[in-house]
Amino acid sequence: MSQAAAGVTAVVVLAAGGGTRMKSRRSKLLHELCGRSMLSYAITAATSLEPDHLVVVVGHEREQVSEHLAEIAPYAVQAVQEPQLGTGHAVRVGLDALVELPSEVVVTYGDVPLLTGETLAGLVAEHRAAANAVTLLTSVVDVPTGYGRVVREHGQVSRVVEEKDASDEERDVREINSGIYVFDAETLRDGLAELRTDNAQGEMYLTDVIAHANRLGRTVGAHLIDDPWQTQGVNDRVQLASLSKELNRRILVRWMRDGVTVLDPETTWVADTVDLAEDVTLLPNTILRGATSVAQGATIGPDVMLTDVEVGEGAHLVKCHATLAVIGDGAEVGPFSYLRPGTRLGAKGKIGAFVEAKNAVIGDGAKVPHLTYCGDAEVGDGANIGAGTIFANYDGVTKSRTTVGKASFVGSNSVLVAPVTIADGAYVAAGSAVTEDVGPGELAIARSRQRNIEGWVASRRPGSKTQQAAEEAVRAEKGDQE
Ligand code: UD1
Ligand code: CA
Repeated sequence: MSQAAAGVTAVVVLAAGGGTRMKSRRSKLLHELCGRSMLSYAITAATSLEPDHLVVVVGHEREQVSEHLAEIAPYAVQAVQEPQLGTGHAVRVGLDALVELPSEVVVTYGDVPLLTGETLAGLVAEHRAAANAVTLLTSVVDVPTGYGRVVREHGQVSRVVEEKDASDEERDVREINSGIYVFDAETLRDGLAELRTDNAQGEMYLTDVIAHANRLGRTVGAHLIDDPWQTQGVNDRVQLASLSKELNRRILVRWMRDGVTVLDPETTWVADTVDLAEDVTLLPNTILRGATSVAQGATIGPDVMLTDVEVGEGAHLVKCHATLAVIGDGAEVGPFSYLRPGTRLGAKGKIGAFVEAKNAVIGDGAKVPHLTYCGDAEVGDGANIGAGTIFANYDGVTKSRTTVGKASFVGSNSVLVAPVTIADGAYVAAGSAVTEDVGPGELAIARSRQRNIEGWVASRRPGSKTQQAAEEAVRAEKGDQE
C-alpha cells in the first residue's frame, strides 16, 4: 500500500493470551467494537502493510479464534502456542510457522483495536530510515500502570522493564512500550533463542530482545506517537466500552469530514461497516449497524436503529427500528415503526406510526400510515392502506401472501385474510374481513349491515342520563321543526 511499507516480509499478530477479565464464554478477541471483532481491526492494520506472510499466534479459546480467522483472513497462517509461556515464546512459535526466515518481522497484538495501518507504516518507515535492529512503538501516558516502561540511557532506548520487575524510579517513567515492534529478523531469532524466565512473572519476555540487540551493539529506536489510544489494549469490558466510544467518535469525525451532519456525536453510533453519502443528517440516538447504507440527503433520527438497511436518497426516518429492509428514495418511515426483514418500501412511500412490516413489498408512493400489521404482502404503487388494517398472514399452520393492487384503497380497520388478492384499482370498505379476491374497480364490503333499533334506550335504560339526553334531542328536533 504505502511506499514505506513495501518489502515487509512478515507480520506476527499475538493472539494466544487469555481474556479472563472479560468474564465471557466468548474469546476476548471476538468481542466487537463498532460492529467488528477486536481481532479484525488487528488483521486490517496488519494486512495494510501487504506482508508476504501474516502469522497469527493462537492459543486460548483456539477453536473460536481459528474459526473466526478462517472467515476474516483465510490467507493468515495460524500458529498454535500451547502452553502460553509469554510474548517472547509466542513470537518464537510464530516464526517457527514460517518456512524461511524473513528479513523483517513486525509484531502486533490482536487486542489493540485502535492501532491503524498508517501507524504501522510509520513505524516501519522509521525503522528503515534509522537502520535499526529493533524499533518499538511507544507513547507517553499519564498513568503508565500495567505497561512495560521504556528505559533510556542518554536518550537511547536501552531496555524495557515490566511493571512487576521495575524499580520505584523506573515505575515513574511515563513512556510505555505498546508491545508493537519491527525487528530485524536475525536479531529477533537470536534474541528469542536466549530468552530466560528469571523474572517476576516466570515468562519469556519478548522485551528482553531489546537488551539483547543493545548487547550486540545494534541500534534500538522508538517510534513515539502522540495518540495513546492507538496503543491501548482491551482486557476487560470497561476498557472495551471506552475504546468503543473513542472508535465511534473517530468514525463519526471521518463521516463529518466527508459531508455528513451529526447533530449529537455523543448519542450517535455508526458501525465501521456502514456507508453514508454526502448530506446525510444523523439526529440524536441513531444507531446504524451491519451493512447499512444511507444515500445522499437522507435524514435519520432521532431514535432510530437500522441493521443491514439500505436507505434511499432524501428519505426520512424517525423513531423506528429496521432490519434487512430497503427504503426507497424520498420515502418516509416513523415514528414508532418496526420494519422486519424483507420489507421494501418504494420511492416516496410511507410507513407510519405503529406499523409493523415483514416480507412486504410496498410500492412507489404507497402508504401504510397508521396502526397496521403488514406481513407477507405486496402493496402496489400508490395504494393506500387505512388505519388499523391487519394483513392476517398466518392461520396457525401456514403463512400466506396478500396482494393489494395499484392505487387500491383499503378502508380502516379491515382484515385481509391471506391468501387473498385485491386487484388494481379496487376498494375495500372500512371494517371488512376480506377472505375472497376483489376484482378491478370493485368495492368489497365484508361486514354485516347496520340495523338501528328504535326506542331501545327508553325500554332498556329507563331513567338513565342517556335516556334524558335522547329525550332532549328528540324535543329539540321537534322544536326545530315547529
Ligand atoms: C506486554 C509487554 C509490555 C507492554 C504491554 C503492552 C512483554 C513481556 N511485555 O505486557 O512491555 O507494555 O504488552 O500491552 O512483552 N500473548 C500471547 N502468548 C503469550 C503471552 C501473551 O500470544 O504467551 C499475547 C496476548 O494475547 C496479548 C499480547 O501477547 O495480545 C500481550 O500479552 P500480555 O500478557 O497482555 O502482555 P503484558 O503483560 O500486558
Ligand atoms: Ca496486556
